[in-house]
Order: sequence, then structure tokens, then C-alpha cells
Amino acid sequence: MRPAVFVALRTFPEVLDKLRQHFEVEANDEPRDLTRDELIARAQGKQGLFVTTVEPIDATLVAACPELKAVCSMAVGYNNIDVAACAARGIAVTNAPDVLTETTADFGFALMLAAARRIAESEHFLRAGRWQRWSYDFFCGAEVHGATLGVLGMGRIGQAIARRGALGFGMKVVYHNRSRLAPGIEAPLNARWVDKDELLRQADHLVIVVPYSKASHHAIGAAELALMKPTATLTNVARGGVVDDAALAQALKERRIAAAALDVFEGEPRVHPDLLQVPNVVLTPHIASATSGTRLKMATLAADNLIELLNGRPALTPVRA
Ligand code: DGY
Repeated sequence: MRPAVFVALRTFPEVLDKLRQHFEVEANDEPRDLTRDELIARAQGKQGLFVTTVEPIDATLVAACPELKAVCSMAVGYNNIDVAACAARGIAVTNAPDVLTETTADFGFALMLAAARRIAESEHFLRAGRWQRWSYDFFCGAEVHGATLGVLGMGRIGQAIARRGALGFGMKVVYHNRSRLAPGIEAPLNARWVDKDELLRQADHLVIVVPYSKASHHAIGAAELALMKPTATLTNVARGGVVDDAALAQALKERRIAAAALDVFEGEPRVHPDLLQVPNVVLTPHIASATSGTRLKMATLAADNLIELLNGRPALTPVRA
């Protein structure tokens, strides 16, 4: 009997074909996220699950699926997966690091540029037919070249954003991370570790790339926003919930910071209604890794992890509890 696998979301036909060469595959092809109960029902009798960022793989699901051996995500972030509950039942978990680093960094940098130079805001103005004349102070934004880039969370994607800033735009880089990077990594990025408050005070453009966890919940709230320069921008390509969206909307409305750019939201796909009302924020629907090539690599890595694990071999990119 070949192992059975459930693919919880629509994915590339070639990835499904690859999985079908090894497993009995059932796939959700509905264009919506499954509820936890639906997921539990479809996961019955399956040894493997192919998931992404939205499926709640929690203790209840794990307890309800005794045959499950592997949960493989095509995302790098895995805050939707209770890794400890999986480990307690001997279920292996994998994510998809590295393959999306540069693509996500491109997008994070693009969002930061869009916020600093008011690209989305001015485009909305033009589309609304409001462009009458040119003026010296027309949509003046903030410099990016030579400015100070602040990176909160200096993992792979944070470093890739820092590289773009330092080498491409001559930016000074300050960062905050739980641990300081080795001098050999800091030096080519011209990057300096500072404590979190100092990061907020110094950054002209703050980019948030820290994974979501209980510890990073609302890492940026009203108190942190109050430390930032009134001319500063904030970009979040990490996870909703790292930033307190209500506090951010208020700060943007009162121009306590100049602008923001968000690809991720608390409770997405819902977006805090106050964010929709303020003009100085760029909003995109969680697409930082969305190029066809990168998404195919992410999905292929999840499939390859399932193939390795369900054939009794070690995972390619394990998540450890
Ligand atoms: C990830 O991989 O965690 C992204 O947020 C999804 O593109």
C-alpha cells in the first residue's frame, strides 16, 4: 500500500503529478481555505499533509489524525503549526526556507521604496483624476539612498534586504536580532547590531522580518511607534500580529510616522478597517514570495520533504521543536 497524502490547497499540477508518482493523493481544489474540522475530516487515514501558512495544524488536529507522520509546508513561516504537539506524537514538520529568500527580499525592498516615495498614494491620486498641476512640494517623500535602514529580524531574508540597502542604495544598516551576527556577516553589509529601542529611534526605514511567535506578538505597538522618527517608514513582510495594526493605523493617521507598507495583517485576509482609511500606507495581499518560479520551488520542496519522510529518510528542511 502506498502512503496517502492530503494536499490542503490548490497547487501546481506538476507538483501534484510528482506526489502521485509516490503516494495516493487527495487534493483540495476548492479556491478557499478549509476549516479545521474539514481539514481533520480530509486528513483521516493520511500519512502526510501538504500545507501552507493558513491551515491550523494544532493539538486537536494532531490528536484526531493518528496515522499522520509528516506535515510539510511550502511556506518558510510555520506559526500555523504546533510543532511541539506534532513532535509529541512523532509527526515530522518541514518548512520551505532559502528558496524564497531573494524573491521576498526584492518585494520587501520594493514595498519600502513605495512607502518612502509615496508611489501607491500618488498613483491613487492620479487614478482618482485629482492631478491638476505640478508643485514644488507635490508628493515629496523620504530619501532612500544614504538613509538608515533598520531591520528587525536579521535572518536570511533580513540579511538579503540589508544587502540590497547597503550595496545597492548606499544605506547605513542597523539591525536588531535576538543574537548578534558574526562579524564576517555584519562587515559586508556594513551592519551594526543595536537594541530594539535604538533601532526604532535610528531607522529612517524600518523593515520587519521577524517570525511570528508569542514573543514577537505586537513587537511593534503604540509605545514602539512613539520612538520612531516622524519622517520614518515601516514595512512589514513578516507576519500579521508582529505589528499592532490598530496602533499603526492611528500613528499613520496622526502622521506620527510618515508612511507604512504592509504585506501581512492580523487576521488576514481581513484588513483592519482603519488601515483602509489612511492614505499613507501601501497594502498588498501577502504576496512577497509570489513569483511563479519561487512558488514552484516552494511547493516542490514541500513535496520533496514528503517523499523523503514517507520513504523513511530524513527531511530536507526539518523544523525542530
Ligand atoms: C512564507 O513562506 O512564510 C510566506 O509568508 C508565504 O509566502
